[in-house]
Amino acid sequence: MSDETAASAGSNETLTVRDNRTGVEYELPIADGTIRAADLAKIRTDETKPGLAAYDPGFVNTASCRSSITYIDGDAGILEYRGYPIEQLAEQSNYLEVAYLLVHGELPTKEQYDLWEHEITFHTFVHENIKTFMQGFRYDAHPMGMLQASVGALSTFYPESRNIFDPDNRHMQVVRMIAKMPTLGAWAFRHAQGKPYVYPDNELSYAGNFLAMLFKMSEQEFQADERLIRALEVLFILHADHEQNCSANAVRSVGSSEVDPYSAVAAGIGALFGPLHGGANEAVLRMLRRIGSVDKIPEFIDGVKAGDERLMGFGHRVYKNYDPRAKIIKKACDDVFEVTGVNPLLKIAVELEKIALEDEYFVSRKLYPNVDFYSGLIYEALTFPPEMFTVLFAIPRTSGWLAQWLELVDDPEQKIARPKQIYTGAHQRTFVPVGERST
Ligand code: CMC
Repeated sequence: MSDETAASAGSNETLTVRDNRTGVEYELPIADGTIRAADLAKIRTDETKPGLAAYDPGFVNTASCRSSITYIDGDAGILEYRGYPIEQLAEQSNYLEVAYLLVHGELPTKEQYDLWEHEITFHTFVHENIKTFMQGFRYDAHPMGMLQASVGALSTFYPESRNIFDPDNRHMQVVRMIAKMPTLGAWAFRHAQGKPYVYPDNELSYAGNFLAMLFKMSEQEFQADERLIRALEVLFILHADHEQNCSANAVRSVGSSEVDPYSAVAAGIGALFGPLHGGANEAVLRMLRRIGSVDKIPEFIDGVKAGDERLMGFGHRVYKNYDPRAKIIKKACDDVFEVTGVNPLLKIAVELEKIALEDEYFVSRKLYPNVDFYSGLIYEALTFPPEMFTVLFAIPRTSGWLAQWLELVDDPEQKIARPKQIYTGAHQRTFVPVGERST
């Protein structure tokens, strides 16, 4: 029937759909392995009725954008940022360079990198009123709530950020947000401990400065161990982006209303806060603690196989071979423990992994350790309380969120996000005044 769309798309690949309600056949163009959901709307029983739509809660099989930022091949265990394998970036790059790559699309030259590092370092301070604002939170406020609120509040300090169609202005906000996120994250941490907030030290590296703002006390200068700085850089690189996950989708969805980027990123932080997204490493620690000792592992595994519980830190919706980030994190674990001493839970984790990887239940379901299996152990060894784990995820993910936001703003195909619904409620009811309503 409507095969002109196939021709105009310049593609020979098509899908023929026969609507058994009417007997009519439609030919829908296929491009990049997808059909256009809007093409389905041409399939209708009569002109007065709405066309066919796709029902896809959770966007399980719906592409919402074209993106050239992050590539994942879950079957092959591949993760690439702008085409560069994550293994090479984790081994040879640093977080700020990776952030530049995500945001700009290319690795920087030496001059570009120096300028970028200078810009980010120059913008690490926040307005004093942000400090007062953060001090107003209750003593036991969750650091993710504090981070989300203060990032949202930044939009009121930079009202020009609403001018999202000016590239220079966009750049300024990107620099500010990547620069200020460690300051806000560290202050949220200090707040819970009742310790004074530490101002940024612009002589230090991005990760070195973050560690100083977290842990500095009365010393004149705080210099973290280089091995810890490097381990944190690696963790930041691994968490910088992961294509269209829940929080990236939240940033894009909110950003599609053309709001300022602080408000859009605050929405991403909210999404990351949820236990299904940023909180699994915390659950791994709880699980390891509950198992308690290596001899209890077989009993625990039996419980998992019986369906009583899950082996947290195992399995992934996308990675069905292995999670490339997990391999890199395991190495970072060794480096951190060299400085901090071994987390006693590591022995249980290593043995658990060994047993699970040989067990038919896990092998047949393609369940491998994911990024969260070892990251919690590192964070704990660095003396972070579990509430801080997701903040440590949000700080590096900011460059990914901003890369997604920049791509969205520049994409002429994007529109305000507005999914359809299948209405299941009542119709045409008659209003009854409150005093006349029966229970
Ligand atoms: N322990 C035991 N069984 C599992 C696990 C697990 N961790 N994960 C999946 N399975 C089983 C599941 O019971 C099912 O078995 P069956 O076919 O007999 O019913 C089969 O494997 C498929 O599971 P699924 O729930 O359909 O898989 P999914 O793709 O919907 O879930 C997941 C992915 C990550 C939510 C899940 O593997 C899980 O809950 N893992 C533990 C939590 C976790 O570590 N999450 C962190 C994810 S990585 C962080 C990130 O990248 O954002």
